[in-house]
Amino acid sequence: MHFNLKINSAKDELSFKKNSALVKFFVESKKLEKTLDDFFISLNYPLGKIQKKNFLDKKSNELTYYSHSGEPSVLFIKKVKIDKDFSTDFFRNYFAGLVTSLKKKNLNSVHVVVPSFLDLKDHFENESQLLRSLIEGIHLGNYTFDNYKSDKEKPEELSFFIHYTDQKILSSAIDYSNKLMNAVFFSRDLVNEPSITLTPEELANRTKKELTKLGVKVSVFNKAELKRRKMNAILAVGGASDKPPCLITMHYKPSGKAKRKIALVGKGVCYDSGGLSIKPTSSMIEMKADMAGGGAVIGIIKAAAMMKLPVEIIGVVPAVENMIGGSSYKPGDVVKAASGKTIEVKDTDAEGRIVLADALHYASQQKPDEIIDFATLTGAVVVALGDIAAGLFTNDDRLADELLQSGKNTYERLWRLPFWKDYNEMIKSDIADVSNLGPRWGGAITAGKFLEHFVDEKIPWAHIDLAGPAIKHKSNNYTEKYDTGFGVRLMVEYLSKI
Ligand code: BES
Ligand code: MG
Ligand code: ZN
Repeated sequence: MHFNLKINSAKDELSFKKNSALVKFFVESKKLEKTLDDFFISLNYPLGKIQKKNFLDKKSNELTYYSHSGEPSVLFIKKVKIDKDFSTDFFRNYFAGLVTSLKKKNLNSVHVVVPSFLDLKDHFENESQLLRSLIEGIHLGNYTFDNYKSDKEKPEELSFFIHYTDQKILSSAIDYSNKLMNAVFFSRDLVNEPSITLTPEELANRTKKELTKLGVKVSVFNKAELKRRKMNAILAVGGASDKPPCLITMHYKPSGKAKRKIALVGKGVCYDSGGLSIKPTSSMIEMKADMAGGGAVIGIIKAAAMMKLPVEIIGVVPAVENMIGGSSYKPGDVVKAASGKTIEVKDTDAEGRIVLADALHYASQQKPDEIIDFATLTGAVVVALGDIAAGLFTNDDRLADELLQSGKNTYERLWRLPFWKDYNEMIKSDIADVSNLGPRWGGAITAGKFLEHFVDEKIPWAHIDLAGPAIKHKSNNYTEKYDTGFGVRLMVEYLSKI
């Protein structure tokens, strides 16, 4: 079940209707218990000793109070500890958890009193960022992917009323977050969709349908067009599937003069069985999400178009299924990519870098000011970073700094790994220009180095390996059940700062 959510800026004083909840934070170092008395008296609910004892969870510093008579019917009171462990994800994560827990509680409205920015100014760049983290959390807690549940319940209505001193900042934060989260959810729906439905063609169709109406030009190169363009790398990986490969390109142009022209490239492997170098079942299960990089790119462009960002964006998503059949590409094959460089295939499960070879070459030919690619490229990056950060690979310090900062602001965090030329030695081939497989150690870096072969060296470029955080994981309240849409919030932050 999800709610039909409405998020409003509360224009009046706190006033409650039936079936409403109040969320209130106390930012201070004192024990929560001591602060509560004054607060309850001000609300005209003197709180008895026993009630306090029963409702106060000292571990989570939280009090949940259900009133029998009077309104609001539920009070959520939470202490916010601002110390070195405070995370900018606090409100996002809290509201994601709260909204999930409100299901079937029969509430109509939730009033949220936002704590003072003064207390939090060391942790957020500005007021909007604080407010957006909170609003994003409300949305994230409401995400479900239940298309395939037979006993789907009809959504309930739930209105949030946010109380904040500056109405103007609040209204624009709500508007920004609503658009952004709409794009994040679109991206998540693509990633969560099983590959039996989300074939390369279906990915292209959904992209067309959703982005064309926002003024984005979407073109799809089919198999014949890929052949004409000598995109043999994409054709090789997609060769064994009954679902033909394609290259999805998107072009968003702002109405005014663009401040920059950016190419975004995303791995769109709709299913990765490993090919002839087949994966075990346990590793295959999540591989419907192997197009999460492409899904992120599509979501980012959707957001940019909805928010009318003043940057020109070219999106490139090679969409394939890595399968097994009579026309599989094989370990030992040599494939000539569109750039003319040859690739020795040593492992058909290292397919992402192969399809990206053609996509990055195509992106380079569009002469953008910079290229950023997103790919669930390696298990090795997950070994290195776990699932709470994506690997960042670039030799451009400006790109690195700005992307890392956007990661901190959105909590879609990146960690920069070395990208020295020494690693090139490890992917040399005796019979082709480059091998698609390096040694076991440093696998995320050599995968990045492989990609570098196909990027115009004059164009600043960053590679983001999001194999960890793009796939559902337990590290917080909004990533547990469904693939996460990682990259959309990160990049919209990056793009909005241009
Ligand atoms: N799609 C996988 C990487 C992946 C792993 C994504 C786990 C998400 C979660 C990629 O195509 C792959 O199979 N990589 C191989 C590369 C190896 C053969 C060099 C890997 O990481 O094992
Ligand atoms: Mg693979
Ligand atoms: Zn893959």
